[in-house]
Amino acid sequence: MKTSGRYRTIAIATLLCLAAVLMLPHRAAQAQSKRVIGVMSLALALEPDRAHGEQIYAKHCATCHGRGAQGNPDTVTPMLSGQVLTYLLKQLADMSEADRDVPEMHRLMARPELSTPQSLRDVATFLNSLKASAVSQMGDGSRLLVGERIYKSICLSCHGKEAEGDFSGAVPTLRGQHYSYLLMQLRQMAVGHRYSVDPDVIALLEVLSRDELSAVSDYLSRLKPHTGDKTIAALQ
Ligand code: HEC
Ligand code: HEC
Repeated sequence: MKTSGRYRTIAIATLLCLAAVLMLPHRAAQAQSKRVIGVMSLALALEPDRAHGEQIYAKHCATCHGRGAQGNPDTVTPMLSGQVLTYLLKQLADMSEADRDVPEMHRLMARPELSTPQSLRDVATFLNSLKASAVSQMGDGSRLLVGERIYKSICLSCHGKEAEGDFSGAVPTLRGQHYSYLLMQLRQMAVGHRYSVDPDVIALLEVLSRDELSAVSDYLSRLKPHTGDKTIAALQ
């Protein structure tokens, strides 16, 4: 089919980029990273079934992430709607392989219904297709110019001019994500809590102070959400 051919082409191009990115972490993480690439390559080459993804989401995920996948700032649970497809797949694979420490999700990802590349593909496709929530938790607004300056000088090169993320590098969109979630992730990544993140990213975050991390999180949480993944939308 024409669409699956396109997906296969996207899958191959994406995996070449990802293989380069994922092979950078320290040696102990490399075997796991290889498994993550394997799961992602299988999932990306499959024909997505969005309706199945919606069913999975309603049954297993909505209680924590919210019915519209808008997240929940009170429990520091991220918004997932409109997130970049490849990034969602990588996180789901990372959490299945315990490459990212989220105990409540490790147990979940081991359920038979969720442990196949097809289920990951379907639920990621469903989430990517949702309109991102326009309501996000924000910081106190006191250091937005500092946040913008940091974003433009350090983060823009990977996360994009509009913080829209990047499909081929599995880089997340950060637009309109909840403030407390962004801040927590930045602090956790800065101390290496995600095992398959490029060490260059960790090195960049390590040098920022808590106030700077808070300023950039506040700036990002206020950007109007980006809807869906541009690359995929353009190809469909
Ligand atoms: C028990 C609550 C809970 C359930 C159920 C749950 N999640 Fe999560 N999820 C979380 C929390 C909390 C985080 C943030 C983890 C962290 O702090 O690193 C998260 C993170 C994620 C992320 C990473 C997002 C990002 O921006 O990096 C994805 C993707 C995700 N969940 C997808 C799902 C899917 C798909 C399901 C259903 C199959 C699901 N979650 C079910 C609590 C849950
Ligand atoms: C060299 C490229 C690069 C640069 C520069 C970079 N990032 Fe990232 N960032 C990434 C990648 C790749 C990921 C996904 C990591 C993963 O797969 O777990 C990420 C993940 C994140 C996340 C987690 C998002 C989520 O949904 O959980 C946040 C927050 C973040 N970056 C913020 C920033 C900020 C703020 C800056 C600038 C201070 C920055 N990044 C600079 C590449 C980069």
